[in-house]
This record gives sequence, C-alpha cells and structure tokens, in this order.
Amino acid sequence: MIEQVRDTLNRPLRDLRISVTDKCNFRCQYCMPAEIFGPDFEFLPQHKLLSFEEITRLTAIFTSLGVGKIRITGGEPLMRKDLPSLIRMIRQVEGVHDIAMTTNGSLLARHAKALKEAGLDRVTVSLDSLDDERFGKMNGRGYHVSDVLKGIEAAAEAGLSIKMNMVVQRGVNDQDILPMARYFREQKHTLRFIEFMDVGNSNGWKLDQVVPSSEIVKMIHEEMPLEPIDPNYYGEVASRYRYVGSEEEIGLISSVTQAFCSTCTRARLSAEGKLYNCLFASIGSDLRAPLRDGQSDEEIRELIREIWEKRDERYSEIRLNDTPGLVKRSKVEMSHIGG
Ligand code: GTP
Ligand code: 5AD
Ligand code: SF4
Ligand code: SF4
Repeated sequence: MIEQVRDTLNRPLRDLRISVTDKCNFRCQYCMPAEIFGPDFEFLPQHKLLSFEEITRLTAIFTSLGVGKIRITGGEPLMRKDLPSLIRMIRQVEGVHDIAMTTNGSLLARHAKALKEAGLDRVTVSLDSLDDERFGKMNGRGYHVSDVLKGIEAAAEAGLSIKMNMVVQRGVNDQDILPMARYFREQKHTLRFIEFMDVGNSNGWKLDQVVPSSEIVKMIHEEMPLEPIDPNYYGEVASRYRYVGSEEEIGLISSVTQAFCSTCTRARLSAEGKLYNCLFASIGSDLRAPLRDGQSDEEIRELIREIWEKRDERYSEIRLNDTPGLVKRSKVEMSHIGG
C-alpha cells in the first residue's frame, strides 16, 4: 500500500537521495577541502556502509510512504564498487519512477553504458569551469576538463539524460559563467548554476562569495535573451529559463537568495544509513541499527513516518534572516549526504 506522508509544514515526502559512499576522487574546496580531507582522513569503513540489499530494502519502505524519485549521490557515487548492481536492484522496486545520479563525471566514461543498461535514467554532472587550469585547481586534484567531457559524451551515447551543475563562487569561477552557458547551450544539456552554500563546517563560506542568481540571469540575458518558464514539477529546486526562440534552457538553484524550503520534499540517506531531514541538519536518525537488529519493514516504516511527520527543518529560509548566527552551527558535511 502506498500512502503519502507529510511533515509539520505539510510537505510531502517524494524524493530520496541516497549517498553510497563518503569518498571522492576530487577535493573541491567548497565541499572536501584537501587541508581537512587529507591522507589521514578516516572515511567510513566498509562494514559501516549500508549494503545494496539494505539500501534496496529501505528504498521499498520509502516508496510505501510516497517516494518515487531516487537520486544516487556520494561523495562520488562511482567510487562505490559495482554500482550498476544497486541500480538494477532499485529499478525493481515498485513505485520508483525515476533514478538519477549526481557525479563529478571523471569516472563516467568507464561506467555510463553499464549504468544505463542497469536502469539508470539520468545523470547530473558537476562541472565548475571549462578552463583547465581553473578546473584543476577547483577540483583539488588536477583533473582535466576533458576527463569530464568524455564522461558526458559517453553518457549521451549510452542514452542517459544529462544535466549539468555549476557551483558559482565570486572571485573563483564567475568568469566561467558565460563560457559555460554558451558551451552547454550548444551541447543541448541544461546547465544549472548553484549559489555557493554554507553546507558543512569546513568550506569557509562567506556571503560575499555568493553570486546571486539574479546577477547570473542578467549577465546571460544580455548576450543570449532568456525567458522564465514554469517548473517541471512541484518542489523543483531549480528555477528555469529558456533561451528565447529555442528549446534549450538553464536553471538557477538559489538556496541563498531565494530559499525553496516551503516545497522541500527531499529526504537524505547517508552511506552509513542515517536519515537527514535537511541538507543543513546537524544530526541524522540512524536506520542501520534497526535494519541490522532485525526490525520488520513495518517497524522501520513507522520509524521513518514518525521522523518525517515531526520534520520542521527549513534552514535556508531561516538563514535569510540570520546568516551570521546560522553559519557557525554544526552541520553535516556535504560529502556525507551528497548535496
Ligand atoms: P532534478 O531532479 O533534475 O530536478 O534535480 P534536482 O533539482 O534534485 O537537482 P540536483 O540533485 O542536481 O541538485 C542540485 C544541487 O542543488 C544540489 O547538489 C545541491 O547543491 C542543491 N540542492 C538540491 N536539493 C537541495 C535542497 O533541498 N536544499 C538546498 N539548500 N539545496 C539543494
Ligand atoms: N555549495 C553549493 N553546491 C555545492 N555542491 C557541493 N558543495 C557545495 C556548496 N558548498 C554541489 C556540487 C555538486 C553537488 C553534489 O553539490 O557541485 O553539484
Ligand atoms: Fe567530490 Fe562532488 Fe564534493 Fe567535489 S563536490 S569533492 S566532486 S563530492
Ligand atoms: Fe530542504 Fe533544508 Fe534545503 Fe530547505 S535548506 S530546501 S529544508 S534541504
């Protein structure tokens, strides 16, 4: 039986974002700065990670509470071995109508075909610059733009739908906004610009490094006229704009200047099985123990229902009024819940 649970702000639970690993081969300064995530950093040991069976079991429980969209995240999800097997298992779960994956693209060329064959619908590839030197610095490991472009090409060839994500930071990659817009318009992949966020406690976030989406729209519109278009679905994170006279579009994810908490339908599951109500939450609720202690699906379902029905988080909306107070608060790291 499928029912739709709602939280204290009447927001339905629709999307489950599943992190499959906390590891990543990149060290983006805004997510996993190398000074903190260095050679001695201890990532989760294998036995603490949810197994594919455990993830699939939870997915089925979540769908019975209203979830239909699944997003696989990391860290970098392709660092987890044998990911296509997990996709194949999730694909079988009744009620799942969309499976997407967020990836840095560097390992995608190798895996795109198998992922598609396993049932993955879409990939969202992160890329912050087309300038090799800047990109190498931003990813902290000297990866080349071409590594990611090859991944995108392979994904397109395999028949996966593709969107692009670019985190914009003033003084770091704002000069890349127009080149990225031009390039991905031509490639016919929707590019979404993400306002730099104060996720976690290690990225040294400052408000003056945020380029407001309104500024980005204005800049692109001056060269390539844009018109706003309606959301694709309730609670869509990105505001959409179309290039006038074409089918191509961009998206703006404005968590800092135009918070979208009032329609937030997303639950986040960390690789170790903690459920987070918000990207900025400080603590998650452990689902691994009940899974491993032999609780029934029905018991775990009630636990999740209770967590969602108590949910009142709306961090970005509160931040609009109390930025200095909030950024200092302890928050889960982005690499734990994958954005
Ligand atoms: P579609 O299903 O393709 O519409 O994707 P999506 O809107 O879920 O976007 P995606 O998962 O690619 O999210 C893009 C980025 O937006 C994430 O990496 C985060 O940086 C940010 N984001 C997504 N969801 C939330 C959210 O609930 N809160 C905040 N503050 N940011 C979010
Ligand atoms: N602000 C905004 N977006 C971020 N991401 C990671 N850290 C941040 C941040 N501090 C994005 C990545 C990727 C997704 C996983 O989250 O660029 O697109
Ligand atoms: Fe890795 Fe993505 Fe974080 Fe960059 S943003 S360090 S690619 S998980
Ligand atoms: Fe949802 Fe939290 Fe993001 Fe608001 S800040 S949209 S509640 S995840």
